[in-house]
Amino acid sequence: MKVKRIGMLTSGGDCQALNAAMRGVVKTLAHSGQKVEIYGFIDGYKGLIYGDFRMLTGSDFSGILTKGGTILGSSRTPFKTITEPDENGLDKVDAMKQNYYKLRLDCLVVLGGNGSHKTANLLSEEGLNIVTLPKTIDNDLWGTDMTFGFQSAVDIATAAIDCIHTTAASHGRVFIVEVMGHKVGWLTLNAGMAGGADIILLPEIPYDIDKVVDKIEEREKAGSKFTIIAVAEGAISKEKAAMSKKDRKKADEKSKYPSVSYEIADQILEKTGREVRVTVPGHTQRGGSPCPYDRVFATRLGAEAGELILKNEYGFMVGYRNREIVKVPLDEVAGKLKYLDPDATIIKEAKLTGICFGD
Ligand code: F6P
Repeated sequence: MKVKRIGMLTSGGDCQALNAAMRGVVKTLAHSGQKVEIYGFIDGYKGLIYGDFRMLTGSDFSGILTKGGTILGSSRTPFKTITEPDENGLDKVDAMKQNYYKLRLDCLVVLGGNGSHKTANLLSEEGLNIVTLPKTIDNDLWGTDMTFGFQSAVDIATAAIDCIHTTAASHGRVFIVEVMGHKVGWLTLNAGMAGGADIILLPEIPYDIDKVVDKIEEREKAGSKFTIIAVAEGAISKEKAAMSKKDRKKADEKSKYPSVSYEIADQILEKTGREVRVTVPGHTQRGGSPCPYDRVFATRLGAEAGELILKNEYGFMVGYRNREIVKVPLDEVAGKLKYLDPDATIIKEAKLTGICFGD
């Protein structure tokens, strides 16, 4: 039997269940009886560009189902810089191809988010055999209803809101919890609803600060002394949303606030005289052990990727649509963001329960 030589890398911001997904791939191949050699590239595409890899064996994948982070390390190599030569004039795309061919790889498994999928698609168009797996806590990857890492991050952000709830209630304060998610609101919406936030501000629904203040005052009149606001790191006011991209960038550069939450906090103080506290759980949302859902989900995706490799089917991301694991052509995935639909029923239902989105 011909040995399959498989390259593997984890690229971009890490998340929970990267190890679980790689383990799923390798266990599937081993269980099939297929002989494999695994070449693990260190720190994402960087490892492939500079030929930095480690040979991995079955034991490297043992005991890592529950382990956070990535055994391979990761780094961000933005797509726009991938096509530019490095400081020594090295053509990065060419270098990746050369290393792939030099190692006589049969395929490359890429675990990545948006940017990483653009590069994966480029490599696939350049003739390499690529299979990808959708990772990111942001859940913003096109072509899949869910990415692994997302549910674990929802759990952590929810736990942060839960903790804030008790202290907010004791002190009768307004609290903002800023949730990650880059330019989309999936994580904030889910953690906000799960944590019982009264106000949820998302990039997809620009907010009016007066509506936010109205909600705080309405709650106080009804006898609730505290208010919890879940703010997506990418949340945007109606005024800013109306600006051109260039003007918005200028305004952001001039801003004295480290993030949108602090600006909102100041505006609430100014308009109501109320004390506002901001909590930013930040990278804790990406850290630690994957939740049981992600362990199962990533294992399933990894297993299906293993099966694609056994069948020599390449050029796909293994995704999840309508409760089924599916293969999605890479050129469909690359370069698109999956935003929340402001008209989605979940938003309607949240509003029915009284959650304010500031719109
Ligand atoms: O894409 C995952 C993510 O955690 C985003 O939610 C966040 O905006 C970004 O990465 C943070 O990036 P970095 O780890 O480079 O600070």
